[in-house]
Amino acid sequence: MWSAPGRVNLIGEHTDYNDGFVLPFALPFRIAVAARARTDGQLAITTVGDDGRPQRAEPVSVGALEPDGVTGWAAYPSGVSWVLRHEGFTSGADLVIAGDVPAGAGLSSSHALQCATALALLGLAGVELDQPGAPTRAGVAAWVQRSENDFVGVPTGLLDQTASLCCVESCVLFLDVRSGEMEQVPFDAATAGLDVLVIDTRARHSHADSGYRERRAGCERAADLLDVPALRDVEPAGLDDALARLPEELRPLVRHVVTENERVLRTVELLRAGRLAEIGELLSASHVSLRDDYRVSCLELDVAVDAARAAGALGARMTGGGFGGSAIALVPHEELDTIGDKVLAAFAERSLPAPGLFTAVPSPGAGRDI
Ligand code: GLA
Repeated sequence: MWSAPGRVNLIGEHTDYNDGFVLPFALPFRIAVAARARTDGQLAITTVGDDGRPQRAEPVSVGALEPDGVTGWAAYPSGVSWVLRHEGFTSGADLVIAGDVPAGAGLSSSHALQCATALALLGLAGVELDQPGAPTRAGVAAWVQRSENDFVGVPTGLLDQTASLCCVESCVLFLDVRSGEMEQVPFDAATAGLDVLVIDTRARHSHADSGYRERRAGCERAADLLDVPALRDVEPAGLDDALARLPEELRPLVRHVVTENERVLRTVELLRAGRLAEIGELLSASHVSLRDDYRVSCLELDVAVDAARAAGALGARMTGGGFGGSAIALVPHEELDTIGDKVLAAFAERSLPAPGLFTAVPSPGAGRDI
């Protein structure tokens, strides 16, 4: 049995596909995959449905897997099997999947599923991560990204898979997506008397996929017009000049990406200096930029962030792709309950369904369980 965690991103949103910086940590919630090899080349997957009962996907032949050939949730593990086949790890398998990463909450349950599946299928082929000769965790993350981009058909970046595979307990992962360089930065909110409150708004807006694609395409067009490989290459000092060279509709996208990369770097500096309590303003500024410039927030995320801040959070922001999903707030431990209550009250006042609330500490990345 192998498992992989969901994630929250502390800061650095919509920067990954612009070759920029991200700072996620792994959640204490995981998706587990129990696996056994089959000799007939078939992939048979069972998961636990929302009603607690087993749901079986139609078994497929690993050798015959092709993009678009599998739909629904089974496309995620099947895509991983498809990539691994291309990498020379062909094996039929029975997979049974269960977990406690909230689904549809923007906490990367699908990436946790894909990463756990990758480890399980590699494990059946006799390959365990971190052993001599095994692929690197970053290498597996790249395979998982390929399965999502090319098999499932969603053009996401590297943030979520890398977080699930490469995060370690007690740290946030500072990843430079361009160079692949990683630093585990200690993140001990408890010692600072703080908690990270996660607010699952339970909102999921239908334009999430198209909105993501449009934003990404806009960034690529802006990079082309500016004649740089990616928006990562726009220096903060040259931002105004760069904006002046762009059509109006692309300017806010570029402003977000350039300022967000800067906020990640400043957050990392504060954390390295043990000044965790001072990152709140950066988190809140990130939210404003995602809301007003990148325009990927929504009513529920804004209500969560505004209510948390008004109730005494040091900072708060949406986390993940946006258009619904979850927000995070950095809150003084002794005010956790009152802030949570005020967030619930703000949702109730607007007749919005009650959000899910929990606190999260940086937890271990993917691995073999038994
Ligand atoms: C989603 C994608 C990531 C990243 C975030 C936004 O979670 O899967 O690759 O782009 O959105 O930061």
